[in-house]
Amino acid sequence: MPNPTKIPKTPLTVNRVRNFNISDQGACLNIQRNTFPSSQSCTDFAREIRKSNSIYLVAYFEHCSDQIDRTIKLNDYLCQCKTNTNNVSGFIGGWNVADEIQIVDFIVEEQFHRRGIGRLLLTSLIEVACSVKSKLITLEVRASNKPAINLYSRFGFEICGRRKNYYVNKTEDALLMNLEIN
Ligand SMILES: CC(C)(COP(=O)(O)OP(=O)(O)OC[C@H]1O[C@@H](n2cnc3c(N)ncnc32)[C@H](O)[C@@H]1OP(=O)(O)O)[C@@H](O)C(=O)NCCC(=O)NCCS
Repeated sequence: MPNPTKIPKTPLTVNRVRNFNISDQGACLNIQRNTFPSSQSCTDFAREIRKSNSIYLVAYFEHCSDQIDRTIKLNDYLCQCKTNTNNVSGFIGGWNVADEIQIVDFIVEEQFHRRGIGRLLLTSLIEVACSVKSKLITLEVRASNKPAINLYSRFGFEICGRRKNYYVNKTEDALLMNLEIN
């Protein structure tokens, strides 16, 4: 075991996930507009979180500098740092209908891509799905969206259908993907 007193106290950035709250609305709208600037529609987050079947989670980052946070980071649980609602890096949203969850929103801000935040959000949503005893998670994804398709495939989602010309803004097919939960 390394001597903990020898670990340098450099700040660490840790990514975490929590439930969406209304103060996240501005940050999430910005992320959505930056990601899809030509889209006409954006999510009405205030309406979504009032719905009893909506599940919205946000990823946020925080800087931890002291020893206890470093130890906790290694275990990846129970960080004592304060949450700063401005540090939102992405979000995922779904609707829980009967025993299925449909993913309707999922974005990580571009500057934070490829740091495992998408994986963290999807893992968290799957944990929620398990906790509410969902049997299936479903989603639609642009046929050309390789980053998302790769991510979903890594989690075991399978392509189960295709909707022709589903997307009208830059016309494209949607792939339907499902993950069965045992
Ligand atoms: C899809 C998206 C959420 C992934 O978020 P992310 O935080 O960058 O993803 P992660 O860092 O957790 O990547 C997890 C895995 O996804 C796959 N992946 C992510 N980005 C990829 C890319 N640009 N090219 C290929 N595979 C990619 C890889 O398998 C990756 O694992 P690896 O880094 O070990 O190779 C992000 O690209 C995004 O917000 N895209 C725009 C919005 C969008 O398309 N949402 C999905 C709508 S259905």
